[in-house]
Amino acid sequence: MTVEELRAQFPILSSQVNGRPLVYLDNAATSQRPASVVECWEGMALRTNANLHRAVHALAARATDRYEQTREFVRHYLNAAAREEIIFTSGTTGGINLLAHSFGEAFLQEGDEILIAECEHHSDIVPWQLLAARKGLKIKVLPILDDGMPDLSALEGLLSPRTKIACIAQISNVLGILNPVGEIIRTCHAKGCAVLVDGAQGIVHGKVDVRALDCDFYVFSGHKVFAATGTGVLYGKKALLEQMPPFLGGGEMIDTVRFSGTTFAPLPGKFEAGTQDFCAVPTLMPALALAGSVFADAELQRSGEEVKAYVLDALRRNPRIRLFGDPADPARKVPLFSFCVEGAHHEDLALILDKMGVAVRSGQMCAEPLMDRFGVTGMLRASFAPYNTLREAETFTASLEKAIDMLT
Ligand SMILES: Cc1ncc(COP(=O)(O)O)c(C=O)c1O
Repeated sequence: MTVEELRAQFPILSSQVNGRPLVYLDNAATSQRPASVVECWEGMALRTNANLHRAVHALAARATDRYEQTREFVRHYLNAAAREEIIFTSGTTGGINLLAHSFGEAFLQEGDEILIAECEHHSDIVPWQLLAARKGLKIKVLPILDDGMPDLSALEGLLSPRTKIACIAQISNVLGILNPVGEIIRTCHAKGCAVLVDGAQGIVHGKVDVRALDCDFYVFSGHKVFAATGTGVLYGKKALLEQMPPFLGGGEMIDTVRFSGTTFAPLPGKFEAGTQDFCAVPTLMPALALAGSVFADAELQRSGEEVKAYVLDALRRNPRIRLFGDPADPARKVPLFSFCVEGAHHEDLALILDKMGVAVRSGQMCAEPLMDRFGVTGMLRASFAPYNTLREAETFTASLEKAIDMLT
């Protein structure tokens, strides 16, 4: 598939912003949606709209089939061992809050420890802090080195017999580096510590195999990988999920309810209380099918590498730019670039770029501890998707040069 053929599937990419062709480089915040995803959602809403699991009528059966078919699709996509290991959530944040609550209830006692990487998104920090405050737990931090890589030399020393879970992003939404999660998981497991991989950005940049990774938990959001907003997945090893209590209580997560006591549904229902987003969840199928075909497409991979190399080189060569997340091994870098410009505020640059049709992110990017680590108040981020062309990358670098000149 050519990039142009891929782009044709995303109507919004041919639109204009501020009288200029849109150059959308805020993909790490949310990807754009292909027509197949919108059609899937529309088909559910217009022709298959019924609540799940509850009723015996045909429409309810159809909606339930699509929902459970999606679970099987996701199980297969992630190479999970069983459908019970796939829990639908509202997104990465929803998944981590569920996990922090239920894993915390099941496995953490006062004085236990949670290890969190310094590069984590607030979604992978704050739910653990809330849990730590409730249960009297200690949070330890795995430091990030100057080049953006986690400091693996510190890992073993941070793990004690009381460290029950380690939380690490597969790819940080600021640094754009493929973290060595396999190595981290092996070290943690050797010390009896479970591992959550935050895959919000990881799912976007390559095929994920949770069994090969051997992570205990993996979370991601549908909207960052072409699916509808409000969708997400928590993968967990069945043996762990089975020991964890429910997070939310309500309809469909129960076995029997009496005022004398309630028993709960088996997995995965135990963790899916109330009406689920049954129109949105099936969009994970066309979305992940497209992501999978992009990863398998030699031409799109070549074009993505070309865009990445071009932008990386342009940013590195500019003496006024300080790039964050620049590992020695370029294979570890994905096309997500966060940087500061000497003498120009990130917010001003983002506003000028917007006037030129270029959409980028500016600010703390929900990673305040990482901003502190690098001693900055915010950054500018350009995050590319496989549908971004080399021409757009050139527009970005030329527009950035102009914006910098206007401000310095
Ligand atoms: C690494 C990472 N974790 C967690 C999140 C939170 O995702 P959501 O807001 O979809 O729940 C994001 C979103 O930017 C992210 O990039």
